[in-house]
Amino acid sequence: MSSITVTPLAAALGADVSGVDLSRPLAPDVLAQLRQAWSQHLVLRFRGQRLSDPELLSLSRRFGELDPPGPNPYGKPFLAEFPEINVISNVKVGGEPIGNLGDGEAVWHCDMTYVELPPRAAFLHALQIPDSGGDTYWANMYLAYERLPQPLKRRIEGRRAIHDATFNSAGIMRKGMQPVTDPRQAPGAHHPLVIVHPESGRPALYLGRRRNSYILGLALQESEDLLDELWAHATQPAFAMRQVWRLHDLMLWDNYCTLHRRDSFDPGAQRIMHRTQIKGTGFVPHAGAGA
Ligand code: SIN
Repeated sequence: MSSITVTPLAAALGADVSGVDLSRPLAPDVLAQLRQAWSQHLVLRFRGQRLSDPELLSLSRRFGELDPPGPNPYGKPFLAEFPEINVISNVKVGGEPIGNLGDGEAVWHCDMTYVELPPRAAFLHALQIPDSGGDTYWANMYLAYERLPQPLKRRIEGRRAIHDATFNSAGIMRKGMQPVTDPRQAPGAHHPLVIVHPESGRPALYLGRRRNSYILGLALQESEDLLDELWAHATQPAFAMRQVWRLHDLMLWDNYCTLHRRDSFDPGAQRIMHRTQIKGTGFVPHAGAGA
């Protein structure tokens, strides 16, 4: 039996995993160890993984059924041969973007929460990186819920929010969408503010993204104020980790109990990442914080 080495990356979440070559088929015992490490640390980093696209796809399938990328602003898959792979890049070829999100900041979010069944997980593989900038951060939403002051827990108990589908995390409008002037009218799924994670059974704060969010049943201003409070709490550095990319890093994250964001980088530099997603199994609302 081979064993992997798992080294925590930050107090809140994240771990480096070594001792495994992910371009090769995974033995069942190694997969079980990876799942265990993932469940404990929520975000895993694998350094020096040189994966072809088919290898990235077969690795991803060991973690569940693939979930195709959401609609991008250009209306067609970035890789015609591998439509299950999303490309995150600022590179343009012949004036056409080869990927999504550009070179600006990508704000805190979880992926595709504007659909009824958001993806459970994602892999992100670094194929080309700038000399500096473009760092990515994840935050632990189990911890954010656990540390939420009791009065705030009570205020969000049983509440649901709209998860706006209009804009991506880089502030680019998705194809076919119209600007939203009133968050109460935003298109997108309605999800509980606190979910029970389907595997761990633990409650996690589930915020999606701030822009055009709205807590159902509240007056608009009350919803705005409460969301601002929740987001300030959830994204504090004590709940987060930072990934400074190296070439061929591969990240795996749990999209049900983490948020992520990305720093901007030099527009003159080129950054290319290939990404897959794993289908979600769904979640239920958390029953409540109690007295
Ligand atoms: C993403 O939000 O999925 C992209 C993160 C990154 O570009 O590092």
